[in-house]
Amino acid sequence: MNRTRPKIQVPRETIDEIRSRSDIVEVISECGIPLRPAGRDYKGLCPFHDEKTPSFTVSVQKQIFYCFGCQTGGNVISFVQKHEGKSFMETLEWLAERLNISLPNQDVRGSLNRKRFTALEELNRFAVEYYHRQLLTENIGTPALKYLQQRGVQPKTLRLFQLGYANAARRNLVKVATDEGFTIQQLVDAGLIKDEARGPQDRFWNRILFPIQNERGVPAGFGGRALSEEHQPKYLNSPATILYNKSNILYNLDKARQSIYKKQTVLLVEGYMDALMLYQYGIENVVASSGTSLSENHASLLKRFTPEVIIVYDGDASGFQAAQRGLHRLLAEGLRVRVALLPQGEDPDSFARQHGAAAFTQLTDKAINLIEFQIQAAIQQQNIHRTDVKAQVIKEINATLLNIKNRVERSEYVKYAAKELHVDVSVLWHELRDLGLKEAPAPYRTRRNKTAPKKSSPRAQIETQLIEALIQNPELIPYIKSQFHYKDLTEAHLVKIAQLLWDACTENEGVDIQNLISECPDEKLRALISNALLRKMPSPNLQARVEGCLKKLRHFLLQDLEQRVRSHALAEGADEMETLEELVKLSNQRRALAAYPFHETE
Ligand code: GTP
Ligand code: MN
Repeated sequence: MNRTRPKIQVPRETIDEIRSRSDIVEVISECGIPLRPAGRDYKGLCPFHDEKTPSFTVSVQKQIFYCFGCQTGGNVISFVQKHEGKSFMETLEWLAERLNISLPNQDVRGSLNRKRFTALEELNRFAVEYYHRQLLTENIGTPALKYLQQRGVQPKTLRLFQLGYANAARRNLVKVATDEGFTIQQLVDAGLIKDEARGPQDRFWNRILFPIQNERGVPAGFGGRALSEEHQPKYLNSPATILYNKSNILYNLDKARQSIYKKQTVLLVEGYMDALMLYQYGIENVVASSGTSLSENHASLLKRFTPEVIIVYDGDASGFQAAQRGLHRLLAEGLRVRVALLPQGEDPDSFARQHGAAAFTQLTDKAINLIEFQIQAAIQQQNIHRTDVKAQVIKEINATLLNIKNRVERSEYVKYAAKELHVDVSVLWHELRDLGLKEAPAPYRTRRNKTAPKKSSPRAQIETQLIEALIQNPELIPYIKSQFHYKDLTEAHLVKIAQLLWDACTENEGVDIQNLISECPDEKLRALISNALLRKMPSPNLQARVEGCLKKLRHFLLQDLEQRVRSHALAEGADEMETLEELVKLSNQRRALAAYPFHETE
């Protein structure tokens, strides 16, 4: 998925207004993170990593957040983006709506492409409403309604999911949509009709329609279920369109996302009906993969909302295999995976209907970890007591272990697998190493000693001081910019930040650090900048301190130069006299710098 930020088309002043009027403490609290006052700041448990003691700090004064545990930080815009999984534009829209600020809609979605999207979105909305009305219209929708009722779908669920019905006619939608002003081309582009030799024909007929929305609730396509066995295929889906790419969309994610976020886990089922019925029973954190294999995009989509996925696939052989396949994609994305096994021949819908929601919840609560699942799978399929089979199973399980991102978790799983397979942990660790696991096998120590943070070089320390001083006092940037080039810094991340500062500093505009955070495309840099802001101390002789840093950096630069002249001389056999003169000049400059005592830095 392309997650790079689109070019910002909202005027800078509007962004400024939205940001400055959105109180970060309020917004974060509204997003469900309890914050407590701590001195001048607020503290809470970080939503971006697991922690027991609060290291998530929010500063009212500076309107930024920073987690000392996981080093995530930024301003109110970056918070909403990350926490709610929204894009920059979506975040602005969300914050603006909250403040009753209207965004200049035309400007925002100005591009031609955008217009094309919007037209198809509108057409899809129209189709959803049309088919929904058909379902509820007497004499037309009756057979479909009966069928749904018989399957236990309640009226409120019909409405919430806007289920629809396309009757047996072949040109219904073509007619109503073109009457409404949509073109045949748009209908074709949306995958709603097929333009055939005998004229345009509706894609869906005699089917119950499940509108499919993307994670933001934009209608993207349909899944259509046949009403009878004879009518094949059982499900007919929209073709790929510019709005509907099945490897990007999980059914029901738009409705489920809040619950997923709250519960920090998601149930992954196979069918539309499964997701819809569980939702009706009050189990809302459920999405369906709709019979397609789980893609990398699906995994990263889910990762935005939760650290854990519970796969609930049908208790048949194909469900079993599908679960196996999906599992590796999810692991590779760094998600925790558990598997809930349904009794043979049941799917989530039939199970919940028969045994009730409570029984279903029990089943998912007891979902087993994936290693247990794999071992059980292996035991079911093969005779694990045979040595060659066991070796094969160990290989498969190791492939899974290798995929687990979290070391502590992996180590736990290794222990578990060793016990179940009756082998020594060291066997598994050795195999893992052979399979390319880089980290030293550590089966006998629980956790690595925390190595002391690497002490940075004196030069890096001074560079850090300078850039931090500039972030804290952006009014100094024009002066420093006139004195020093950011490329002369040696620490890669500082070069990047300095470049941002230098670029933002134009003749007629000072640098607004908040803007810089909003517009900075790199999450790590945003965090570094926020951290620097948060650590701002009153500094009595700031100017002198900054001058001191500059002087020391020039000193290092001259040293670099001397070094270069020397090696150049060696390599090229340059004129000895010239080289000597240059060296003397350079070292004089350096000494002149040193003649003024350096300002002491802490
Ligand atoms: P019901 O039989 O109505 O309960 O549907 P189900 O969701 O239980 O069906 P099933 O378990 O057979 O399939 C699971 C999912 O796979 C469905 O929800 C569809 O998304 C998809 N699927 C099933 N059959 C077909 C098919 O024939 N074609 C396509 N494209 N997808 C299908
Ligand atoms: Mn079913």
